[in-house]
Amino acid sequence: MSAPSSPDAIREVNERYHDGAAAHYDSKWGIDWGEVGREQVLGKVEKAIGGPIPAFARSLEIGAGTGYFSLHMQMAGLVGRATCTDISGGMIEVLQANATMLELDVETSVCDAEELPFEDGSFDLVFGHAVLHHIPDLDRAFAEFLRVLAPGGMIVFAGEPSRYGDRLAQVPKVAATAVAPAWRAAIGAAAAPEGHADGGEDNHELERHVDVHAFLPADLERAAGDAGFVDVRVTGEELLANWFGWTNRALEHTAVSDEIPDLWRQYAFRGYLALQKVDRSLLEGRLPATVFYNLLLSARRPG
Ligand SMILES: C[S@@+](CC[C@H](N)C(=O)[O-])C[C@H]1O[C@@H](n2cnc3c(N)ncnc32)[C@H](O)[C@@H]1O
Repeated sequence: MSAPSSPDAIREVNERYHDGAAAHYDSKWGIDWGEVGREQVLGKVEKAIGGPIPAFARSLEIGAGTGYFSLHMQMAGLVGRATCTDISGGMIEVLQANATMLELDVETSVCDAEELPFEDGSFDLVFGHAVLHHIPDLDRAFAEFLRVLAPGGMIVFAGEPSRYGDRLAQVPKVAATAVAPAWRAAIGAAAAPEGHADGGEDNHELERHVDVHAFLPADLERAAGDAGFVDVRVTGEELLANWFGWTNRALEHTAVSDEIPDLWRQYAFRGYLALQKVDRSLLEGRLPATVFYNLLLSARRPG
C-alpha cells in the first residue's frame, strides 16, 4: 500500500494494524506479567519522573495496548482507578482478558488520543508507553491530556523513539536480516512465513505505515510546553540494550517461534537486562538524551 496521506488515514491504519496484531502482541514483545515486567514498567515511570513514583488515585492510559503499563501500575498499588484507552478495539479486548487473568478491575474505552471522551479534570495521571509516535496531531492530543487532568496532575510518557536512536537502530535490524538464514541454520530453526507475528503478511505490510514521528527531545518539550504543561522533563534511555534487543528480535522474527531453543531465548533475555544495567550506570545521564533510542517525558498541569 502507499503511505497514508491524511491524519484520518493514519488513524485508520493504526486501528487496522493493531487490531490484527493484538492476538500475538504479548508474545511478540515478550510482555511479562511477573516481577521482571513490573521492574521494567516501574523503572521507566521512575526514570521519566526523575524520582520515586507517587500513588495516583485516577489514571488514564493512552494507547494502552494489552495493558502492560496500567496493569503493572495497578498491581504495584500505584494507581487506584485505572482507565485504559486505545484506538484499537482488538487491543482493548486482549487488555480486558489480561485484566481478568490478573484479577484486576479496569475501565476501558476505544477512542482516539486526540478526542478523549472524558470530562475536564477527571484524572491525576495521564500516561502511555510507545504511543505518541503514532498520533498524527500531537498538539491536539496534548491539549486533551491537559484538559482531562486535574490541576497539579501529571503526564508520563515512555518508550518514544528518538530520531537519531531510530536511525541507529536500523543498523542492527539490517545486519540481523542479512545473517538470519545462517543464524537459523546454526540454531536448527525453520524460516517462518513473513509477518507471522503481526497477524499475517497483509497486516505486516501495514506496520511500515503506523509510525508517524521519531522525536528530538526538543519536539516533546515543545509539545508539552505549548499545551500549557510545566516542569517539563525529557530524558533518554537505552542504547546498547536496544542494539542488542533489535538484533535479536529481528533474528527471532524470521524463525518459527516454537523451534527457537530455550538456551537462545535465555541468552537474548539476560543479555538485554545486563546491557540495560550498563546503559543505566554508564551512559544515561552522561550522554545527551538525543543519542538514546527511547525518550521519556514527564510534566505537570499547573495548579
Ligand atoms: C506500540 S503499541 C504500545 C501498546 C502499549 N502501550 C504497550 O506498551 O505495550 C501502540 C498502541 O497505540 C495505539 N494507538 C495508535 N494510534 C493511536 C491513537 N491515535 N489514539 C490512541 N491510541 C493509538 C495502538 O492501537 C497501539 O495499541
